[in-house]
Amino acid sequence: MEKTYNYMTLKEKYIQLQGKSGALLATNFYNFETLRAEMQAASKLNKPIILQLTQSSIDYMGLENALNMGRTALKYYGVEGWIHLDHGGSVELAEQCIKAGFDSVMFDGSELPMEQNIELTQKVVKMAQEKGVCVEAELGYVAKLGQSTEKMEYTSAEDAKAFAEATGIDALAIAIGTAHGFYKEEPRLDFDRLSEIAAATNVALVLHGGSGVPDEQVRKAVELGIKKLNVATEIKNAFMENLKYLLLNNTEIDLRKVFPPAILAVQNLVESKLNLV
Ligand code: 13P
Repeated sequence: MEKTYNYMTLKEKYIQLQGKSGALLATNFYNFETLRAEMQAASKLNKPIILQLTQSSIDYMGLENALNMGRTALKYYGVEGWIHLDHGGSVELAEQCIKAGFDSVMFDGSELPMEQNIELTQKVVKMAQEKGVCVEAELGYVAKLGQSTEKMEYTSAEDAKAFAEATGIDALAIAIGTAHGFYKEEPRLDFDRLSEIAAATNVALVLHGGSGVPDEQVRKAVELGIKKLNVATEIKNAFMENLKYLLLNNTEIDLRKVFPPAILAVQNLVESKLNLV
């Protein structure tokens, strides 16, 4: 089945989105089933999508295997999309992914002092630029799974501008009130801060921790300049909650019959997120 895919590079796509309202959805995939669900959603709505892999997903599926699964799926479903390393924790991992053929890598130095974050991000940008690969970095504190949300160090417009200029990154994850995983209380995004950051820099702004952010806040964030919305936890949750129910309620051992409703649940979820961006 010959279908066109990767219509433009992610760099070109981000540039195309500059100054316009509208963002890309970035979803993590964990196995064939979640990948298939994401592809079915993007294909049905004819929307582009970024497929993300974390270190844990790479360890689980294997780097080449996961990358090729993503690429093949984009081609098979005729979806415009890109493969991205999510939260790369070291320059070495980013380098491995760049060499393997990822379209985009994130180097996450957000827990380092800003100077060190800049220094290491610069190294990744240098390697990536040689191959036309996009680089995302993070500035500020977006609590990771299991980390406290009390610290909450928000990104300042001044730092975002200085960081973008010093590193030459394409995309920047900013801290404006989201956290990874589900929220104990409804998040309240700092929209004034987002507007200030968007006015200060041209890099594509990324909203991590998309799971559980109310739809109207996501829409407003996109209106004010977010160009990439990351969603992961809700995908795992939709898949596993459905699967648990299915396994507890039937004796079927043919996994090809058991998985489809869980795939559909993820597809529906991803469609709803695609409709927000
Ligand atoms: P959630 O797991 O909260 O959706 O965050 C996803 C994310 O930001 C991945 O980098």
